[in-house]
Amino acid sequence: MATKKKLNIGMIGRGFMAKAHSNAFRRVGNFFDLAYEPVLKTVCGTNEAGTKAFADSWGYESVATDWRRVVEDKNIDLVEICVPNNLHAEIAIAAAEAGKMIICEKPLARDAAEALTMTEAVEKAGVLNFVSFNYRRIPAVTLAKKLIDEGKLGKIFHYRANFLQDWTISADVPQGGKDTWRLDAKTAGSGVTGDLLAHCIDIALWQNGPITDINAMTETFVKERKSADTGKVEPVKIDDACTFFCRFANGSMGNFESTRYARGHKALFTFEINGEKASIKWDLHDLHRLQYFDHRDEGIVRGWRSIHVSDGDQPYMSHWWVPGLQIGYEHSFVHQVADFLEAAAKGENARPTFRDAYETSRVCDAILKSATDGQWVSL
Ligand SMILES: NC(=O)c1ccc[n+]([C@@H]2O[C@H](COP(=O)([O-])OP(=O)(O)OC[C@H]3O[C@@H](n4cnc5c(N)ncnc54)[C@H](O)[C@@H]3O)[C@@H](O)[C@H]2O)c1
Repeated sequence: MATKKKLNIGMIGRGFMAKAHSNAFRRVGNFFDLAYEPVLKTVCGTNEAGTKAFADSWGYESVATDWRRVVEDKNIDLVEICVPNNLHAEIAIAAAEAGKMIICEKPLARDAAEALTMTEAVEKAGVLNFVSFNYRRIPAVTLAKKLIDEGKLGKIFHYRANFLQDWTISADVPQGGKDTWRLDAKTAGSGVTGDLLAHCIDIALWQNGPITDINAMTETFVKERKSADTGKVEPVKIDDACTFFCRFANGSMGNFESTRYARGHKALFTFEINGEKASIKWDLHDLHRLQYFDHRDEGIVRGWRSIHVSDGDQPYMSHWWVPGLQIGYEHSFVHQVADFLEAAAKGENARPTFRDAYETSRVCDAILKSATDGQWVSL
């Protein structure tokens, strides 16, 4: 077996996403034949004991409590940014200047201006860069993109997507702090638009091309919350819910909704695309299935078919078990790491890059501007 080149990883953050990415790096080499062997070198968190426990549990060789030490460390090849959104820009720019490869969690930044500064920094430094819009790499979602690219749907008329949750309905949920930073605009940038719709938009731009015009409405249902940082009741500045419709450059119409107030829904991410010849739909709660309707089928058997995406000739599945056995959420991170490492071995970027994610940020900014102004916004 050819000797693999070691790739030393510096993980910044030790929360939800740091786990998902660490798991992906640990498993990827067992399922994908790659030129690089990822090495979990250093994990960085603010609390030393907690970070040490994370390092022990995931197999990191060392810990740091200041991300600058990770970025400056000449032994680190790849910096992983898995911290709240307000920290992405400073870390990414420093990592780019230090010549590191970078994987950054989504949203790339709090707004498009910040995302552009980061994009320019990685492009100027010429470092490999990638943004973790992981849902692209759920096999059924990748298959949907393949069917569209092959022209199976024909001309696209409608693109519809939702991302619904219900965890902030209680007015007692605070804003800010280590567990509820997503409700603090200074840290998160925006509410559901940057957090949830960014996923829908990333996939929509990838599958259906650029958005040209947007009309949006947002709402903040709970206007004041206690700050977990100051203990004071303060105005809430994020969007709790957002709905927008848009035109795509290919002439199709888009309709998107996201909220954290849809009682009963924990992470209902769905999309449906209607074309001249066929339609497809997908639902995160049934993530290994793609629903497909083809008008060209013989009339007597025409109807929606539920494709169980588990066969070896379907995206990514030849790397896993046998046909019929499905995989889950965490595998989307394994796939993105595999694609990143495969491209990196050739000195190339996998997608989405920072520039791709900047386009998503531009759409998010346009949504928020349209909602504030009560006007259509052109991109
Ligand atoms: N791809 C996805 O579907 C997905 C899902 C969840 C979160 N995210 C994104 O991932 C990022 C992190 O979210 P999360 O859910 O993992 O958050 P989290 O709150 O679970 O973890 C954040 C981590 O950052 C650490 N941290 C905070 N300040 C730090 C500092 N100065 N130095 C080092 N570490 C610091 C915290 O200690 C914590 O371990 C966010 O940008 C979020 O939007 C993406």
